This record gives sequence, C-alpha cells and structure tokens, in this order.
Amino acid sequence: MSVVDDVKSKIDIVDVVSQYVPLKKAGRLFKANCPFHDEKTPSFVVYPDQGTWHCFGACNTGGDVFSFVMKKENLDFGEALRRLAQRAGVELMRETPGEDAERKRQRELLATVAAHYHSLLKQHPAAQLAREYLARRFLKPETIETFELGFALDDWHATENFLTSKGFTARDLEAVGLVVTRDDGKHYDRFRGRLMFPIRNRHSEVIGFGARTLGHDEPKYLNSPQTPLFDKSATLYGLDLAQDAIRAQNLAVIVEGYMDVIGAHQGGFKNVVASLGTALTPRQLELLKRLTKRYALALDPDAAGAAATQRGLQVAREALDRKAVPVPMGAGLIGFESRLEAELLVIALPEGQDPDELIHADPQKWIDLTTHPEPLVDFYFRVLTQDLDLKQARDKSVAAQRLVPIIREVGDAVQRAHYTQQLARLVQVAEQTIAQQVAEKQPAPHLSARAAELPPKPTPWPVSKREEHLLTLALHMPEHLPRVAFLEAEDFADGETRAFFLALRDFAALFDFFDHAMFRSVLDESLHPLYDRLHANETIAPAVAEPDLAREIELAAYRLRAERDKTELGRLEVLLRDQAAEPPPDDAHALHARVAFLLKRVAETQKALSARTMLKSHAF
Ligand code: UTP
Ligand code: MN
Repeated sequence: MSVVDDVKSKIDIVDVVSQYVPLKKAGRLFKANCPFHDEKTPSFVVYPDQGTWHCFGACNTGGDVFSFVMKKENLDFGEALRRLAQRAGVELMRETPGEDAERKRQRELLATVAAHYHSLLKQHPAAQLAREYLARRFLKPETIETFELGFALDDWHATENFLTSKGFTARDLEAVGLVVTRDDGKHYDRFRGRLMFPIRNRHSEVIGFGARTLGHDEPKYLNSPQTPLFDKSATLYGLDLAQDAIRAQNLAVIVEGYMDVIGAHQGGFKNVVASLGTALTPRQLELLKRLTKRYALALDPDAAGAAATQRGLQVAREALDRKAVPVPMGAGLIGFESRLEAELLVIALPEGQDPDELIHADPQKWIDLTTHPEPLVDFYFRVLTQDLDLKQARDKSVAAQRLVPIIREVGDAVQRAHYTQQLARLVQVAEQTIAQQVAEKQPAPHLSARAAELPPKPTPWPVSKREEHLLTLALHMPEHLPRVAFLEAEDFADGETRAFFLALRDFAALFDFFDHAMFRSVLDESLHPLYDRLHANETIAPAVAEPDLAREIELAAYRLRAERDKTELGRLEVLLRDQAAEPPPDDAHALHARVAFLLKRVAETQKALSARTMLKSHAF
C-alpha cells in the first residue's frame, strides 16, 4: 500500500470535515452548509463510505480528503499529505531519520547565523559602513528588524569560528553553503564584509542568504549556492511576509531585487516578492498559485522589449542547460496565462527606476501603476512598436512579424480576435490579412525532433485504476495532452492523481516540448512516488489491445468523465429523493438543472466512446 493510501485508510473524512463545519447525519451521508461558499440550505455532502465530499451548490465540485484540506487550507498536495499523515500517525518515508535530523540542524544553524549577522550589523564597530549604507538607502530600524538584515565580518574564518563555538561541524557549514572548500581541503567563509539578506521560505525558515557588497566588488550580490534547503528557482524572496497581502489584494507583484521587496514593504506595499534574478520559474509561480492568479511583473520596458524580441525556443533551450527553467518571456508566459486561467499583468516602470527608487520618490505613482497594471499582450504591443514608424510599409511588416507570434499564443479565441483587430488597425491593413497570418501554423521543429526520439509505443499499459491509466498515457505521450484538454480537476476523484494531473497540465502548458527529468525535478516531492510508478509502467507488458495510443488516451479520458458523471448523477438522485419529503430547498431548481446537464453529457460521452470504438472496428 502506498503511503497515500495508508493515510487515506486511517483518516475518517467525517472527522476532518467536522473540524471546519458542523455535519448533520442524513441516512448514510452527512450534510452541511458548504464551508467554501455562503449558503442557507445545505448543499455540501460527505460520503463516509467512499471517503469523498461534494458541494452541489455554487462550488459544484468535490473530491477526497486531500482535496478538501487542500482547498480549505490553501495547501498543495504535499503539504496536505504531510498534515494528514501526521494526524493519521503515518510515517512519511521521504527522508531517512538521519537526514531528517541533519536538515533540522541545518535549519537551526541558519537561524543562528542569521541572528548573529543581525546583531553584528547593529553593534559591531566594523559594521559602521554597513549601517551608514542602509541609512543612505532610507531603511528604517523596524525594516532592518523585520527582514533581519545583517553583516558578515570581513574575515576568512569569523563565521566558521562562531558556528564551531556553537557546536556545529565543518560538514554542517559546508552543507548550507556558508564555507567554500578549496581543492586542498581547506575552507574559508563564503560571505565576507557583506550586507546579509536572509532568504526565507514561506514558513519563515531561513534557507539561504543574499549578500550585497558595500563597495563595487563583483558580484554585487553573492547568493548561497544550491543546497538541500535552498533552491533558488523554487524560492521567492519576501513570500513569508507577503502572502497574506497577496491573497487579500488578489495580486502578486513580482520584482527583481531584494531591495525592491524591502523598499516596497517599508512603503506599506506588502504584496511584493522578488524572483531573485530576472527569470520567473514555474516553481515560483506554483508558490503563488494558491494565493492568487493575478501576477504583475514589474518590468523595465526597454529591457523587456529587448528580451521579448529574442524570445522563444532559444531561451527555453538555454534554460534547460542551466537547469533553472525560466519561463521564457512572451511565448511561455502567454501560453501559461491562457492554460492556467492566470492573468499576467505588467507594471511598466519609468525608465531607469527600480521599484525601490520609485516607491521612495513617488509612492502615488506606484499605487497608480499597481492599481491599473497593463495586460501582458497590451504591453508587448506598446514596447514592440515604440521604435517603429507605422506609416512606413517596412515598419508595418516589422510590427506584424513581432506581434503576430504573440497574438498566436493568446489562448482565448475572443481575445485573439481582439488583438488581431488591434494590430490590423495599428498598421492600417485589412484585418483579414493579419488574421491569415495569425492562423498560419508554425512548424515546431523541436517537437517533431522529440517525437522522433520516442518510438511509438505499440500498446498501452495495464493499470488497474482508470486515473492512473490515463496519467500513464499522458506522461508517456505528453504531446497528446491537448486531445484531452476537456478534462478538469474534478474528473479525478483521487486527490493524488488530481494533483499530478494539474502539475502535468501546467508544466506542459509552459513549454512546447516535454522533458521528463525536468518535469520530475519541478514536481513536488510528495508526488515523486506516483511519478516513478507511472513512469515505470512503460516497461510493463501491454495487456489492452489498442494499437492507436492517441485514441486510447481519448478513450481513457472519456471513461473518466463518464465515471465521474455517473457517480454524480447517482448522488443527485439520492439527494433529490431525500429532499422530496422536506420542503424544497432554494437550490432544488439548480439540482434538477444539473441532472439534466449531466444526463446530456453522459449521452454525449457514450456517443464519443462508441464512435471511437466503431472507428476502431472499421480499422480492422
Ligand atoms: P540589481 O542589480 O538590479 O540589484 O539586481 P538591486 O536589487 O537594484 O540592488 P541595489 O538596489 O543596487 O542594492 C536585481 C537582483 O538580481 C539579483 C539579486 O537578487 C538582485 O536583487 N542579482 C543581481 C544577483 O543575484 N547577483 C548579482 O550580482 C546581481
Ligand atoms: Mn536597486
């Protein structure tokens, strides 16, 4: 039994749900006013036998105990699993106990050294320059406290000596990246004579440092190296302090620098985090997704314009080499927006001004910019035409060359038509001319290259669970994911496969090629066992005779959909039967409408399934 199944079997969903909302027994079911939306008559039902729940009201969604806790507590799958495992008394074997203790000691070490650097900054005579520097940058003492800024002495062994005196070993220091080991085995402090910015995860634990020079040394910022605790591409500076504001304001503002975050927070703008460099990564977006789907990137229009003109495959390829996987400007971002129903916005900074400088010089301007951030595509229209004279024939075609690929990536058809029209007006040519260009299919050489590497799989794999079967197919043929784009989170009854499906879909939406190692590396650790299981299914001998795998994935998706709809219909039937005795609830009409909708959809799905089957039998 997998850990996930073990946890599920030991947890009573009724207990968990009752912690949030009083449940009323109704036969074999439990009912409540939905804990996710406001309502007077209960349309939230718990099915203890199946370990599932469903809201038949405004939410019209359901799932298992993991989905419930994820939705209620805004957690990702891994966090929900950890929480419920603890409750169930199930040991998560992700780390050996030894490793666990080691991580704990490393966290303690980092917290200890952050406090030490902080007190040096406040008191040590050698930190005088650092204190003056912060004053020149208008940082208030409270801000220095909040971000626990510090100072590392300009000494080759000061940090090491301090930590050794506290009982930490040389190995601990190396594991967290505080010392650099030379070829001859001798080591020295990595951070010397620098202003220290502790980097925290969203639980406020110190996981690394950014260290700024006070002079003109290179690099200006020296960061902790990648360590088991610190993964730069999965960290957003300031997230621990920003998350409440991001949720409350339904907007995450993403800046580049440490000082920008600090300046913004000091100015009272707390929904600001930094990407620690220039490129935003999928894992960073993953961290924000649970808080909001509106992201505003603070961009320098000149730099962004330059990046946008040379975006695309090359950027993604470089990313692959660096293993950091930045989301390419333009291409990836726009694709991401439409597939994830995210809203990507831009805060176009005045030329040459950092958010930090702007907020200090003109806070009202920052308020204006963040209150009306510009949609990403509008931003591209603006910056990619600003060097052109649109009365000239040549510049008109340059504008089209630059903007058509961007319009092509807009997922929503109505929006795509809108921008097509806008471009036609801008360059004063017939809309049809632009529309034709937008419609032209671009070759995707990297995709076909990838497909050539993967030999066609003759037959699918036997997986007992429908959901895992579908995921196995999708994982091995991610290029066919668009065929099952109609699938929704709710088509997966199981919280784990649901989380996996969403991760897979999001990842595939970011890139037009699929790299398995990269996908696994960005996947939350809690989903690694499932990944490995699904991945290994490849080698299992095929059992089902379905030679057309592209069709098989569609069939698998339709079967999931049919299963889900039938379950829901069964539940609705019970619900409506129950309610016949009581006065009809406000939403009885909605329930009947849902039944009608589902009946229609089941019929359609059946048709799709048998049509496929017929096709198949024709083929033989
Ligand atoms: P900037 O050079 O714009 O720094 O780099 P900044 O935040 O404006 O710094 P101040 O205002 O001069 O103090 C933006 C971000 O890029 C990363 C850091 O996260 C920095 O905050 N960076 C920059 C590095 O990691 N290393 C560098 O050498 C430079
Ligand atoms: Mn700056």
